[in-house]
Amino acid sequence: MKIIQAADYQGMCRKAANILSAQVILFPNSVLGLATGSTPLGVYQQLAEWYRKGDIDFSRVKTVNLDEYRGLAPTHEQSYRNYMNVNFFDKVNIVKENTNTPDGLATDTEAECARYEALISSLGGVDLQLLGIGHNGHIGFNEPDEAFDKITHCVKLNQRTLEANARFFSSMDDVPKYAYSMGIKTIMQARKILLVVNGGDKADILHAALTGPVTPRVPGSILQLHPDVTVVADEKALARFDLV
Ligand code: F6R
Repeated sequence: MKIIQAADYQGMCRKAANILSAQVILFPNSVLGLATGSTPLGVYQQLAEWYRKGDIDFSRVKTVNLDEYRGLAPTHEQSYRNYMNVNFFDKVNIVKENTNTPDGLATDTEAECARYEALISSLGGVDLQLLGIGHNGHIGFNEPDEAFDKITHCVKLNQRTLEANARFFSSMDDVPKYAYSMGIKTIMQARKILLVVNGGDKADILHAALTGPVTPRVPGSILQLHPDVTVVADEKALARFDLV
């Protein structure tokens, strides 16, 4: 595992964008696994800026996102599909048909999980998976105590997550109760993983995930067993590491 320290959030974003951009320059038909959330926003912004300058071509890239809320239409403001369109896909020359998220409106949940997993396989697997990590160590929507051998599945969101999400919806009833997520096994099958982390509020969990026991209680701890992980984090997130 490589741990790369950046001075601040902007620096973290530039370094992570450099790694993604190198992947796309070296392998223009890469399959990128992508994440939503606040951490990668600046990474997508940086990639879009380099695209505008003519430095990166996404025309042959394919993408699969980690997760999506069940029940939300792709056009819903809070859907992860919409997040990806607004923050990244609409700003670069990626072919929309080559971008994939679980279908929040699928009527058969199990079939949708199987379709998504099969789709990832049919693309030849993920070349580089971008990840963030939650305060409790979750990756994707794999919350603590989720089995490590899960593939794409539907997750019942816990009360804390529902309450945290409530601010984005007009009423508690509108907050999605379930989400589709790649499982830990799916994530671990990616050939390379790039974990981005910023902020002092993530310092403890990042330290636990990278140096503590590998346990489903800290889902991100599984990354210690992956052969090709790069962590790009800012100084605050790495406060508990003694890096030279
Ligand atoms: C996003 C995802 C989540 C986030 C995690 C961190 O697709 O799967 O695991 O990466 O919740 O979120 P932020 O970046 O908002 O702190």
